[in-house]
Amino acid sequence: MDVTDDTLHGIQERAKFREMKEGTQEDWAIIGSEYMAFAQGLPDRVLTHLRLLDGDFGGFPVDRLEHSLQTATRAHRDGRDDQYVVMALLHDIGDTLGTYNHPEVAASIIKPFVSEEVHWICQNHGHFQGYYYFHYLGMDRESREQFRGSPYFDACAEFCEKYDQAAFDPDYASEPLEFFEPIVRRVMARPINSLYAKAQAQAA
Ligand SMILES: [Fe+2]
Ligand SMILES: [Fe+2]
Repeated sequence: MDVTDDTLHGIQERAKFREMKEGTQEDWAIIGSEYMAFAQGLPDRVLTHLRLLDGDFGGFPVDRLEHSLQTATRAHRDGRDDQYVVMALLHDIGDTLGTYNHPEVAASIIKPFVSEEVHWICQNHGHFQGYYYFHYLGMDRESREQFRGSPYFDACAEFCEKYDQAAFDPDYASEPLEFFEPIVRRVMARPINSLYAKAQAQAA
């Protein structure tokens, strides 16, 4: 069986252990090289998942993908940097799998690549966005006040006021997803905060 057959049949070099405690340096060399290749595919997986929001209106005037593009476009046109724009683009990507806690899903995805402030905005935007509608659902629109002491309170309020709550206009000319792809790839090219950052840096 040659290399082509191996690839076709999905038979690649694999670690030999049956329990992780039997692992060897050779095993982890194999897994490490596979991981590096897998990590490089993260931007593609994220962009593919973002496309799941296409056509998902949920009663809103625009679908969730257009809302994401519009939020990111407004941030970009307002001069925000790459990290911020990627956060704006992905802030609702968790709607599909984190239906009851979507801000945390997006925040976890971007955490290795953004500043503490940008991560905080993403993580807590649900409470701040609630200022614009929680009272229509019998909830407390002042929910965001629990974060008043945070150094990032104003930044999160600004994100929602300028970009997130403002991104439901069917007539707004948002940039297409392709416009943001190179920005996502740039930001996700290298983690700045990660459990695996040391191994990643050594392999680079
Ligand atoms: Fe959201
Ligand atoms: Fe949003």
